[in-house]
Amino acid sequence: MDNPDLSHHWLPFTANRAFAADPRLLVSAEGVHYVDAGGRRLLDGVSGLFCVPAGHGRPEIASAVSDQLRHLDFAPPFQFAHPDGFALAGELAGILPPGLDRVFFVNSGSEAVETALKGALAYHRARGDAGRTRFVGRERAYHGVNFGGLSVSGIVRNREAFGTGLPGVSHMRATWSPDQVFGWGQPSTGADLADDLQRAVDLYGGSNIAAVIVEPISGSTGVLVPPEGYLERLAEIAAANGILLIFDEVITGFGRTGHAFASQSFGVTPDIITMAKALTNGTIPMGAVAFRRGVHDAVIEAAAPGGIEFFHGYTWSAHPSACAAALASLKIYRDEGLFERSAKLAPTFQQAVLDLKGAGPITDIRGFGLLAGIDLETDGAPGRRGFAVLKELFKAGLVARVTNDTVILAPPFVATETDVREIVDIVRSVVAAL
Ligand SMILES: Cc1ncc(COP(=O)(O)O)c(C=O)c1O
Repeated sequence: MDNPDLSHHWLPFTANRAFAADPRLLVSAEGVHYVDAGGRRLLDGVSGLFCVPAGHGRPEIASAVSDQLRHLDFAPPFQFAHPDGFALAGELAGILPPGLDRVFFVNSGSEAVETALKGALAYHRARGDAGRTRFVGRERAYHGVNFGGLSVSGIVRNREAFGTGLPGVSHMRATWSPDQVFGWGQPSTGADLADDLQRAVDLYGGSNIAAVIVEPISGSTGVLVPPEGYLERLAEIAAANGILLIFDEVITGFGRTGHAFASQSFGVTPDIITMAKALTNGTIPMGAVAFRRGVHDAVIEAAAPGGIEFFHGYTWSAHPSACAAALASLKIYRDEGLFERSAKLAPTFQQAVLDLKGAGPITDIRGFGLLAGIDLETDGAPGRRGFAVLKELFKAGLVARVTNDTVILAPPFVATETDVREIVDIVRSVVAAL
């Protein structure tokens, strides 16, 4: 296949000039493999971008989307709706933690985060508590790239070029500490870091804080697993101060931790859950926000009868093709028991990844379920070695995610034990040569 003209398309979170000089073009995908422009098969070690647990090229999803587009290509989402949006919301309510059964649809993880933050503000205002406008986020968090999400995120490179963001945001410390290295699962130290929320309460007044948002597992900054007792303590402090707890499950949702949501894996139920990515098995852009019924009801009931209750939404909220893709994906997850399969595959993955210790300049390995972060010793400028490794992994036949100097693996749930070992063996071969 001829390479296209690479000059017009400005790529996101990409070294555009380096890419143009040495492009990594993926032209097709099936199962746990991609095919690149040179016809090479590559293993997908990160489910696309944490999106494709059921594997690529699922004909059931393609047919559902195609049928939907022939049947109903678009329905206006403001003051109109279509049946599949309700069907999908109902399906999600069935797998979400009990009580979180009111679902708002969006088109991405970033939009899900904006919607969750705005929903929290609307809730407090509806209850006559409009003074609650502050948010608490966390260092090393990734909540997308829009201004609200950026403001509660904790990644300097994503923030520094873009001004001041939302006012009234403070950050808790991240939960990783050096005593946790080469652990797996929930660290036994660090639960006390949840008291950073108490410090925000003590400093700003709990009655001024609308919500605290965390990823149950920080994904994009290298898989930081919550310490034992941490999420419980966070929930306790939030509840004691009337602060809504938001779990950003854009990566952890849909079986990555062995349950539908990480909330269930960790036994802590927030007030709001954001999701996207695997909602449609990566096929059609879609995100969603699940609200605790009481949060939803407060907003609905505060509005004048017959009036719009929440002045928020997107042209493509609950787009028919996305609903069809999501319904087909959830059916696959259910029929093939993929969340259970994820849980079953996790010990093999854990063993294989932990066995990388000593294979090269690896300074830490962390993980939970089918999600792992492998820290490489920084070589010169932070991120330089990581980028070199990304390119070497690609040459060696693996699509992985590298952030800074951390390799992140998140295989599709349909991967076999052999696939998982092969994915890790490719990492070993590249890291050993460093
Ligand atoms: C936890 C979390 N929140 C939000 C987002 C943003 O999602 P999107 O890229 O779909 O806007 C991501 C993306 O990786 C994420 O990991």
